[in-house]
Amino acid sequence: MAAARKIRSDEVRILNVVGARPNFMKVAPILKVLDRQGGRFSHRLVHTGQHYDERMSAAFFQDLGMPPPDIDLGIGSGTHAEQTARVMLAFEPVLNSYRPDWVLVVGDVNSTLACALVAAKLHLRVAHVEAGLRSFDRRMPEEINRILTDQLADLLLTPSPDADENLRREGIPAEKVVRVGNVMIDSLFDQLERAKESTILPRLGLAERSFGVLTLHRPANVDEPATLERVFSALAEIARDLPIVFPAHPRTQARIDESGLVLPAGVTMIEPLGYRDFLQLWRHARMVLTDSGGLQEETTALGIPCLTLRENTERPITVEQGTNRLVGTDPDRILEAGREVLRAGHEVAPPLPDLWDGRAAERIVDALAAWK
Ligand code: UD1
Repeated sequence: MAAARKIRSDEVRILNVVGARPNFMKVAPILKVLDRQGGRFSHRLVHTGQHYDERMSAAFFQDLGMPPPDIDLGIGSGTHAEQTARVMLAFEPVLNSYRPDWVLVVGDVNSTLACALVAAKLHLRVAHVEAGLRSFDRRMPEEINRILTDQLADLLLTPSPDADENLRREGIPAEKVVRVGNVMIDSLFDQLERAKESTILPRLGLAERSFGVLTLHRPANVDEPATLERVFSALAEIARDLPIVFPAHPRTQARIDESGLVLPAGVTMIEPLGYRDFLQLWRHARMVLTDSGGLQEETTALGIPCLTLRENTERPITVEQGTNRLVGTDPDRILEAGREVLRAGHEVAPPLPDLWDGRAAERIVDALAAWK
């Protein structure tokens, strides 16, 4: 932990938590706003170490201009119980020594729930960024994490009206809920210019709009070879017209290796990319195929067609107001939607959802200060 220093009584002390890849781009803009506000806030950054590979973690700190974590719990991979329990055990002493006014957690990964639970039991206030999202599918570990973290949180910072409505239905008092918009879009807008410096397109020999981008990592899609095989059969057809680049999560690479499945011709697997290379890749794609949550939002923000290889989404606004289509893992549906996108030619980007304006982090920090 950073050296102890004199604490001003009017100072708001915030402990920010990150653990896994999709957390970094949500916390980076918040740290920047906290720093800009100078002496009003003091803050620390804890990395649980849920993601630890250079390309899953350190590369994002670098691209997003984040300071190194003050504390790295180094918990690594494991079963859900192991991972959650290890984060809890390691996080408790951190909270006991740095008694923050707020523990700020983001998203829906195991680290989010584990840290919120420890904080709530120590009677420390929890703010949850990206509160209220629901897929209504409890087989997704993230759905359990979302529901429980929202029950524990004192301040629920939501990205969209559907999230507010979900919380209302679950009996969360309205005064705990503040709609701040989508903080992931803050990072996206912040990095748009700098991502142009990335050389990923020439490195891969790709011309703009002449390729698709695939990401896959959900256990429901990658752990079962029969499901992977079905997805691959649709990709094989799409890739006849549109080559597909596939930056693969380490878990996905491992599952494909174990299954003995062969990638279809025209689908090229590459290592996971950092934030800027990946942004520069997908923003120039003809379409994105994914089971990620964040990418459904990012493609909506830039008007890139997105086929989501899931049956549900906790981000319905991307379907209602954005460029996202839910296609599941049925090969016919994937193929039909893929062909439709290819036929459609250039689509005009829809207007951005309300409060996806690059200023969500400012509203988050204002909400924290208002509650001190
Ligand atoms: C986690 C989140 C998921 C998020 C995803 C983004 C949970 C329940 N899941 O899933 O919501 O969309 O991160 O990537 O928190 N591994 C590595 N290197 C790493 C990290 C993981 O090789 O740096 C491998 C390990 O084999 C590990 C597996 O990936 O067992 C799964 O990692 P884990 O953190 O458990 O979940 P993700 O699938 O990454």
